[in-house]
Amino acid sequence: MTGDKLTGEVFYTSEETRNKAHIKDRAVLDLKAKKDYKKFWADIAGDLHWFKKWDEILDDSKKPFYKWFTGGETNISYNCLDRHLNTFRRNKLALIWEGEPGDVRTMSYFRLHQETCRFANVLKSMGVNKGDRVTIYMGRIPEIITAMLACARIGAVHSVVYGGFSVESLTERIEDSRSRVLIVADGSYQRGKVVPLKDIADEALQRAGTVEHVVVVKRTGQPVLMEPGRDMWYHELVSLPIASHNCQLEVMSAEDPLFILYTSGTTGKPKAILHTHGGYMVGTYATTRYYLDLQEEDRFWCSADPGWITGHSYIVYGPLLNGGTTFMYEGAPYHPYPNRWWQMIEKYGINIFYTAPTAIRGFMRFGDAWARRHNLTSLRILGSVGEPINPEAWKWYYNVIGNGKCPVIDTWWQTETGMHMIAPFPTDPLKPGSGGLPFPGIEMDVLDESGKPAGRNTEGYLVIKTPWPSMVRTLFNDPEKFRQQYWERFPGYYFTGDSARIDDDGYIWVIGRVDDVIKVSGYRLGSADIESALVSHPAVAEAAAIGVPHDIKGNVIHAFVILRDGQQGSESLTGELVKHIGHEVGPIAKPEKIEFVDKLPKTRSGKIMRRVLKAQAMGEDPGNISTIED
Ligand code: WT7
Repeated sequence: MTGDKLTGEVFYTSEETRNKAHIKDRAVLDLKAKKDYKKFWADIAGDLHWFKKWDEILDDSKKPFYKWFTGGETNISYNCLDRHLNTFRRNKLALIWEGEPGDVRTMSYFRLHQETCRFANVLKSMGVNKGDRVTIYMGRIPEIITAMLACARIGAVHSVVYGGFSVESLTERIEDSRSRVLIVADGSYQRGKVVPLKDIADEALQRAGTVEHVVVVKRTGQPVLMEPGRDMWYHELVSLPIASHNCQLEVMSAEDPLFILYTSGTTGKPKAILHTHGGYMVGTYATTRYYLDLQEEDRFWCSADPGWITGHSYIVYGPLLNGGTTFMYEGAPYHPYPNRWWQMIEKYGINIFYTAPTAIRGFMRFGDAWARRHNLTSLRILGSVGEPINPEAWKWYYNVIGNGKCPVIDTWWQTETGMHMIAPFPTDPLKPGSGGLPFPGIEMDVLDESGKPAGRNTEGYLVIKTPWPSMVRTLFNDPEKFRQQYWERFPGYYFTGDSARIDDDGYIWVIGRVDDVIKVSGYRLGSADIESALVSHPAVAEAAAIGVPHDIKGNVIHAFVILRDGQQGSESLTGELVKHIGHEVGPIAKPEKIEFVDKLPKTRSGKIMRRVLKAQAMGEDPGNISTIED
């Protein structure tokens, strides 16, 4: 593709990077995928190991419950580890890890396989069977990776809960998944302080009654309560004779569940997105390779947390499926100084760096000098994910961090899609603020209110028209809601919940959520998560939460609260409510502003009209309010 006739501002990747890229010309892939997209995916799947080949590539007989590679047998953990052991990768670093205090651990593929087997044996000895759910609640430490891979090895379904979530978030997720085993760390380091993960878990376990075994990883060493008969130390368990280096793996059907991951939706409780061994494996393998261009000798750093889909797909599974070297850092970006990340890119010679717009905007605020102090010339590919990247941040990233040589691969996707859906290949012409075109084999469109294509340059609803291997299969416990949430708004199409427009060159510009999902610093929260935390406080009768645009975080939360009779709004009550949300949901959910009100705008059927609140907060016209009750 040449950029000669493209509209708007266009950038290019250096010739060196383009020459090195796996995909020299996306047109070749597009053509192949257009001819037969199922075969296109099957060819990619052929790079991986299958104990038994699939009978059918795609079974769409029970739409929208699509199945991929049916009849096929594989195991993603085998493909991440065992598959590499008979090659030179046996001695290659699978993981480089740095802790916030500066301690370092590395593991070869050989070692990571051993650790995974040892812990998988421990899980087996606790009676964890194929299909059982296991909740994992830790910071960014190596054990989170071994725990995930160990579950996958024996066919257990992992449910990772982000270490920044707190008591009620963890309780709901343990309860809904009915986990019998919880793997937790004593604490995690965050900006020089310790987050007491085990204490939070203890409180959650008082509320949720399903857990029988708690495995505790010692990370910080602060004192924790160990309940006899329930709690055991990870390091003691993996030293037992049962924790041998050999662990018989479970041969999985392609469609067997691999993990559930809770994410916030339009209303109500977080939904458990379910992904499977076969399709998810193929999608994350392909996009890590082709979009992020992971190559054999690369050191790959995705700065996300394994507690979110980005970490699942692009810290753990995607890089390891490719036999790559994945780097993980425990701490926060600007601590103790805003060069912490750049220092590590230099120290480890990171080649591919994948982060979020909010982090980039945060760094910009500190000026160029912090980055300029470091030699960042090892970088070849830059990635962005989580929310739209504003052109100013894009150009700063491209110029200051990438020195005008690295493409910014702006990847649009979701927990539900499992893998990148829209992004440029490194060889594509790049437009700051747009991810470009969908991955080959995937068709997307922007529709108007009535479900007709909105046409070029018109904002509308972003939908996906073709099934893809790593698509969400269902909501664990709630297949009916799965159908309603994603497949009913525009029959036959998957509805993303985002608005977007397509420009004259076919480039897709994602604008943002059109539902009650709020993206705060790229983290996905729901209005309902914050509202239910607020009303669980004794002073609160009713609450509404909205997202309001913010320069660095993308959005921040504003909450409106109706107090119970006899309660008085005050600064100290505001502080108490903010603290309460931090304790129940997690620090990321803390509202920036709480307003005490007498009434909330509602429809006649009693639904809170958040868009009216939002318009008001932004000083805009609320539009059509004819359905308002009062
Ligand atoms: C929502 C999904 C963190 C992994 C992906 C996020 C927004 C994500 C982009 C992007 C514009 C983006 C969308 C999407 N989003 N990436 N590159 N450009 N918007 O997964 O937490 O499930 O959130 O994030 O609104 O629907 P998630």
